[in-house]
Amino acid sequence: DFQYPHTFVLLGASGDLAKKKIYPTIWYLYRDNLLPKNTKFIGYARTKQTLEDVKEKSKKYIKVRPGDESKLKEFWEANDYVSGSYDKRVDYEFLNQHISKSEKGPVANRIFYLAVPPTVFEDVTVNIRNACVSIKGYTRVIIEKPFGRDDESSEKLSSHLAGLFKEEQIYRIDHYLGKEMVQNLMTIRFANQIFSPSWNRENIASILISFKEPFGTEGRGGYFDSFGIVRDVMQNHLLQILSLVAMEKPVTLNPNDIRDEKVKVLRHIKPIDLKNLLVGQYVGNPNGQGEEKLGYLDDPTVPKDSVTPTYAVAVIYIDNSRWQGVPFILRCGKALNERKAEVRVQYKDVPGDIFEGHTKRNELVIRVQPGEALYLKLMSKSPGMKFDLMETELDLTYSMRYREADVPDAYERLILDVFTGTQMHFVRNDELKEAWRIFTPVLKKLETERIKPLPYMYGSRGPREADAKLAESDFKYSGSYKWQKPSLD
Ligand code: BG6
Repeated sequence: DFQYPHTFVLLGASGDLAKKKIYPTIWYLYRDNLLPKNTKFIGYARTKQTLEDVKEKSKKYIKVRPGDESKLKEFWEANDYVSGSYDKRVDYEFLNQHISKSEKGPVANRIFYLAVPPTVFEDVTVNIRNACVSIKGYTRVIIEKPFGRDDESSEKLSSHLAGLFKEEQIYRIDHYLGKEMVQNLMTIRFANQIFSPSWNRENIASILISFKEPFGTEGRGGYFDSFGIVRDVMQNHLLQILSLVAMEKPVTLNPNDIRDEKVKVLRHIKPIDLKNLLVGQYVGNPNGQGEEKLGYLDDPTVPKDSVTPTYAVAVIYIDNSRWQGVPFILRCGKALNERKAEVRVQYKDVPGDIFEGHTKRNELVIRVQPGEALYLKLMSKSPGMKFDLMETELDLTYSMRYREADVPDAYERLILDVFTGTQMHFVRNDELKEAWRIFTPVLKKLETERIKPLPYMYGSRGPREADAKLAESDFKYSGSYKWQKPSLD
């Protein structure tokens, strides 16, 4: 297919996501010659502006290395901008004519990226279906969360989409599925005999999947307040990681075989009980600098009495024979002390201890960001005459081991997958449905009972009560382990 004309239409081209993420991404793909040679890009939005304006706005976010200048010029020559409404069919007919102009030959494919607000989502998809589908090639649509805000609204959206496109045409982005270490989870689990036999309730005490961010909502308060951290990060990114960590081995690597397993493991999870959820909201740090002084409620776009969580810990149980009783702890928060996303698989204590209680638990750590790493914490004899134990690690830190490797950004991989028609790293309709089934009741409860989130200070580790939640979920943290950065020579 790569020899034929392709058109990538970016709807919502004047927005934040477009300039910060999508334009840079398509530029990198173009620069690295990863896209079909004859690809045209069209930005579409309500804003009346020129391509020059689009260029100007995204400039700050587009990295250009010395020597790339002529390629960048070529890239912008392959771009166009069309302004039009989201709800009028005639505007889309005009867009269609515009696309057709560069579609010489027997085959031409189209991809539509919907970086548009949820309020216009239905109009946009109907109009694409009615006026813009390719008559001589494939039409694929890429969509971004929010995919509804509960089971009902998500179901409504899904049936709306299903009335317009086939599931094979719909690419639901969860950009965590495009991250290197998230993609590595299946390899780690299923290509290593050392892990497979111990990956179960007999050996594993608990699994912690966490996401931390060192900044608050900063200008996104309007969107964030009607969603909250559970919908923004936990119900999608963290639950996706959970399914890859917990699922059974798929029959093959075929995308549908993988997604079948992901759905299956989710079906073993009961809706979360309020007692297994802890929520927090950040307050300003009076001794902090700049933004740190501001709490969530100080954001002018957030109602003064908002009870929307910016931090959450949920303890999830998978009722199948592999995992029954093993707590999967999902933890996420904004305005914390650091940026980090990782999975910690904590093994049980060694039975029949002969080391007088000095052994610490093994932990397999999969660090998604920053700095991809895979390390296994284990006990070893301290080198030398003494017969002491020490905590150490087998360490695969990518920046040390693969110094030349260039890890692509999640969006780059995922958009390329859409061109090649690979749905493995996209969310299938039934996965989404399960995710909402698990989270909707507790979200409703939080909202109708207006449960007050626990306060935590901007820049801290989160509410203190969260540590107790981890401890009661059989996750042991001793604080004695220190990772030492290996020296470079
Ligand atoms: C997005 C959330 O999906 O993921 C944001 O809406 C969050 O709130 C972001 O900041 C985090 O993505 P990353 O790739 O920076 O970890």
